[in-house]
Amino acid sequence: MSNILIGVSGGIAAYKTPALARIFIKAGHSVRFMMTEEAARFIGPLTLAAVSGRRVSFSGGEEDSPVSHIELAKWADLCLVAPATANTIGKYASGVADSPFLSVLLALGCPVAFAPAMNCNMLSHPAVRSNIERIKSWGAHIIEPDEGDLACGDTGKGRMKDPEKIADAVLNILGERPVESVAPEMSAGDTEPETPEADGDKVKDILEEFGGRTLEEYLDNDETEEESLEGFAAGRPLEGLKILVTAGPTREYIDPVRYISNRSSGKMGYAVAHAALDMGADVTLVSGETGLVSRVPDTVIAVSGRDMAEAVEKRVSEYDILIMAAAVADYAPESAAPEKIKKEGERLSLELVKTKDILKEASLNKKEGQIFIGFAAETEDLEKNALKKLFEKNLDIIVANDVSRKDIGFDSDFNDVKLFFRDGKVSETGKRSKKDIAGIIVTEGAILAGGGK
Ligand SMILES: Cc1cc2nc3c(=O)[nH]c(=O)nc-3n(C[C@H](O)[C@H](O)[C@H](O)COP(=O)(O)O)c2cc1C
Repeated sequence: MSNILIGVSGGIAAYKTPALARIFIKAGHSVRFMMTEEAARFIGPLTLAAVSGRRVSFSGGEEDSPVSHIELAKWADLCLVAPATANTIGKYASGVADSPFLSVLLALGCPVAFAPAMNCNMLSHPAVRSNIERIKSWGAHIIEPDEGDLACGDTGKGRMKDPEKIADAVLNILGERPVESVAPEMSAGDTEPETPEADGDKVKDILEEFGGRTLEEYLDNDETEEESLEGFAAGRPLEGLKILVTAGPTREYIDPVRYISNRSSGKMGYAVAHAALDMGADVTLVSGETGLVSRVPDTVIAVSGRDMAEAVEKRVSEYDILIMAAAVADYAPESAAPEKIKKEGERLSLELVKTKDILKEASLNKKEGQIFIGFAAETEDLEKNALKKLFEKNLDIIVANDVSRKDIGFDSDFNDVKLFFRDGKVSETGKRSKKDIAGIIVTEGAILAGGGK
């Protein structure tokens, strides 16, 4: 099986690239993505990371992979640029290396294929044609675009070939498949189909697994174009991965009508559970009382810390990832008074006892390959306290946020967190919606767990 590096540059057709990658993955190949800064305007690095189960090398810097451009170039058995913009082709043809993306292209020692996608006039411009001819003369494979309606409203040649046809062409370059449907337009030096009559439906079958529909059918359905493209691009990259999420505050009852709780709204944990669900994971949400509506079919309400500990202990061994976003009380009354405590006397003392540390307990029986992610809501010494928890509780990632800030955190739809990883890596999200941050947390966890099956 081969290592396929997919470079995504900034064209509308980038939405088709995750479907293309899934074909390679389903066929047993390893896929890594790199993307230009402009490409991030068309598709999120997170979507690509979730599809490949690996961090994306991103010329925008923010999500850049720790893998250097030379390592990435050495890793690849084949590099496919899809979509390939006029700009990227032009820069490659001129030997420009002013971004990690272009540096990788120049450092490659393996076959490289380009699937151009652009407006028909751009494609027929002499500069673009001459750049294409130039890179072809060096042995680059060009998977010529199709004719048809273009995103800009024009009709002509410029549509990126459909994923199954590109996959056919690439697998053929790797010596694995025929390129029956693509051969007449393949224009690189060395990609003659070897067995043109062989099975041409395998790739189509794989694509049809996307909701039982082909790409065309998917795009022709009743949803708005934006929704349908988003859904198709996102796919279900975490299918097969089991994720247990806890959310919300716990209530520690003093008597039948009074309890001690905390300011957690549950929004962050619910966002995490929903992000995992939307990426196709098999999710269980264990939630305190929040008043939020869960879309997770397997949602278990656990009112007290004790209930939550029980719910987690019972299940955790069956999950690939545990994400503990719940704010569990650290201290609670040993037991609640059976009747409402009467208003007598000037003072009332409550004795509280330390509750079980759910994550610490779970970490004692942590299984090989399991990924545990915790949260640290701090008002001081964020980094020191977060790192202490990371190691004390044997976590893989700790998500730390400063809850003293008024504009984020409790009850807000926004957050600004730092992710501390066991290997010393630290990544900051900056202020973003809890939905975005949830996507980052789930993706990072999935990458550590080895992605969906
Ligand atoms: C909405 C929109 C769609 C675009 N689609 C394409 C395209 O399909 N092909 C192309 O070559 N350029 C396209 N462009 C222009 C590129 O995004 C632009 O040239 C950019 O600098 C490419 O950068 P990159 O090659 O580093 O990704 C588009 C621009 C916009 C705003």
